[in-house]
Amino acid sequence: MNTQELISTAQKLMADDKGLLAMDESNPSCNKRFAKLGIPQTVEARRAYRELIVTSPGLGECVNGLILCDETIRQQKKDGTPFVKVITDAGIIIGIKVDTGAKAMAGHPGEKITEGLDGLRDRLAEYFQMGARFAKWRAVITIDDCLPSRGCVEANAQALARYAALCQEAGLVPIVEPEVLMDGEHTLKRCSEVTEEVLRTVFDQLYTQRVMLEGMILKPNMVLPGLTCPPQEEVKEVGIGEQQYQVRLTDRQQDEVEDVDEVADATVKCLLRTVPAAVPGIAFLSGGQSGELASARLNAMNVRFKSRLPWALAFSFARAIQQPAMEIWKGEETNVLAAQQALYHRANCNRAARRGEYTVAMERIGA
Ligand code: 13P
Repeated sequence: MNTQELISTAQKLMADDKGLLAMDESNPSCNKRFAKLGIPQTVEARRAYRELIVTSPGLGECVNGLILCDETIRQQKKDGTPFVKVITDAGIIIGIKVDTGAKAMAGHPGEKITEGLDGLRDRLAEYFQMGARFAKWRAVITIDDCLPSRGCVEANAQALARYAALCQEAGLVPIVEPEVLMDGEHTLKRCSEVTEEVLRTVFDQLYTQRVMLEGMILKPNMVLPGLTCPPQEEVKEVGIGEQQYQVRLTDRQQDEVEDVDEVADATVKCLLRTVPAAVPGIAFLSGGQSGELASARLNAMNVRFKSRLPWALAFSFARAIQQPAMEIWKGEETNVLAAQQALYHRANCNRAARRGEYTVAMERIGA
């Protein structure tokens, strides 16, 4: 293992307030998103879409790394130039998704275990030869009244750690992605408890499997209430001394700024409790948040805490950067330029969020 190379790559991935763009959706996931927009679900449509992304003007100003899937790393532009060359020429580091997907976990109804360890050493060697310098593996954790189970958390954490150790052996920086899903009615507090347990277990396993923390990046979820969480009643103390009285607020009544700050506070608190200072960077997934909210929440974390944190707080979004561009493109050649501008806009908003300089006004300019 070349320790210095790994540390240097991890630092480059987090440098200059830039982030990562995940464009590694599996073929079925990409097809599902295409189907919703009436785009043909073909190899050629996926290739054309990925060409749109990798040739987006200015992308390298906002991202240090692009995460590809196996299909994409082997593809070329229409003129025959390999994507790998286009990306490298733009000064962007190539990443590769190496898990083979989350499958139903035996004995654990409703839960998933991510597969892909068998044969991974050989696949990593091939990807390194092709130019990849970092990799990604995603574990998914479901929340409901009884989940997640300890068995699911431990098995996924161990797989993440074994993957990370193999990556470092092969000279690739592992992106370690334990995603606590947003689906469900759970509260922000419950998401916080589960995320904390998951991250504690993941770092315990990373230590057990001898992963070098300085040569990895963590890709967690933000701490958020579930997508269908009913309004939470909150009692607040208002006033001073004898004048003090209580008001009851619901989540829906609180304005967006408060929501953004609450998510920022809960997320950073959870990370401070669980992520060792030796880890150079934390690059969030977006998980189904809108592009604007993902930027606003990342911005709030950096505004409120950046100067006090041991690690960089960055982004590794897929949907929160790509979605508007895909909706504009719709599979039509004539929409490519406008789609690329939308992609650049979201990536640029997130770069501003890393600096704590993102504002709603940026959305008006970019609209
Ligand atoms: P989202 O940002 O759309 O959640 O995707 C991130 C990712 O890479 C999932 O593995």
